[in-house]
Amino acid sequence: MAVRRLAAEQPESFEFTERNLAWAKKVIDRYPAGRQASAVIPLLWRAQEQNEGWVSEPAIRYVADLLDMPNIRVLEVATFYTMFQLQPVGKKAHIQVCGTTPCQLRGSEDLIKICKSRIAQHMHEISEDGNFSWEEVECLGACVNAPMVQIFKDTYEDLTEESFNQLIDDIAAGKEVTPGPQNGRRFAMAEGGQTTLTEIDDNTKGETPVPQVVDGAENASHSFAGAAINAGGHDFNGVPTPAEDAVEKVRVAFGARAAKAPAVAPAPKKAEAESEKKPAAAKKKASKPDAGTPSKASAPTAGEPQSGADEKEPELLKKARGGNPDNLKMLKGVGPKLEATLNELGIFHFDQVASWGPQEITWVDSRLKFKGRIERDGWIEQAKTLASGGETEFSKRVEAGDVASSKSEE
Ligand code: FES
Repeated sequence: MAVRRLAAEQPESFEFTERNLAWAKKVIDRYPAGRQASAVIPLLWRAQEQNEGWVSEPAIRYVADLLDMPNIRVLEVATFYTMFQLQPVGKKAHIQVCGTTPCQLRGSEDLIKICKSRIAQHMHEISEDGNFSWEEVECLGACVNAPMVQIFKDTYEDLTEESFNQLIDDIAAGKEVTPGPQNGRRFAMAEGGQTTLTEIDDNTKGETPVPQVVDGAENASHSFAGAAINAGGHDFNGVPTPAEDAVEKVRVAFGARAAKAPAVAPAPKKAEAESEKKPAAAKKKASKPDAGTPSKASAPTAGEPQSGADEKEPELLKKARGGNPDNLKMLKGVGPKLEATLNELGIFHFDQVASWGPQEITWVDSRLKFKGRIERDGWIEQAKTLASGGETEFSKRVEAGDVASSKSEE
């Protein structure tokens, strides 16, 4: 691995934006007094995001001050982990190619050749158009899907020269790219399909039984930073994949699988068990409201979140007004899957989101599976700006096609 040193040219100073500072304080508060240093990795990651993908020397000092740590301790962390970039990187992608033995045996040297020919001859050089940079790193923990690369917080696996070239093309063109295996296989499952636990009846009638995956859960396992940035990271593109989301997604995914596996788990199915606790009315399917009219409160179905006293159903629509939904993906933290979920709930417009208060946020939050996202990403403030015809930094990037993927929700 290359020696990791701070860049020769450094900015004068660094400080968190008001929003990032508020977030940082919340993260620090999670730890007992005297243990604030535990927040060093998420804070450095947030500093990296804010600083266009790299950690500057002033940012290291700033984080050290914030955590009351000696500068050298933060420098040690920043220089040890390859998740932290110590010099400017490509705007659209900094590609970290795993060059450790399993990936090497499966073709990582070919991927490096592509980086050299398409991006820059040397590691950490930025491509002429400023959009790409690359480096070789040590094992990134996805060996079973070798060869693989990591781009910001996401990993792209089971690569071939062809699929890697395609990945670079798509990112360059601002197209949506999907993290995870690039050869169609699911997670690290055998390429030929499932070979164990095949007796599980998941009612798929002939389809290969697979773990049930909730929205975004699949990609949760392909985000190294989802685990490493333990307090709620965002990637360089400004999209979040906090470990708590990842853990929740995986928990839900496998929880759902367990509920579908009577041969393995003789306990009552989760959905059935929950439905027994609910009044009969709770089994009714929630009905969609009419277009343009606020809906009545709908009873949750078994397995759906129960309405609580501290939540309130927001204004929902059967369809978008005038058949023209707003592009909810302009909200940082919303990608295609989440947008589809919101539409399914009856949410199509920025002004709907802008009108939510704490109770409505709780209602929607509980139906998105990952609690806290709406507030963490500031959907309401973003929606207010967009609903009034304004723009946010993120929406400008979406419009400019500068956001490479739907990582925001994965
Ligand atoms: S060797 Fe490449 S991910 Fe482990």
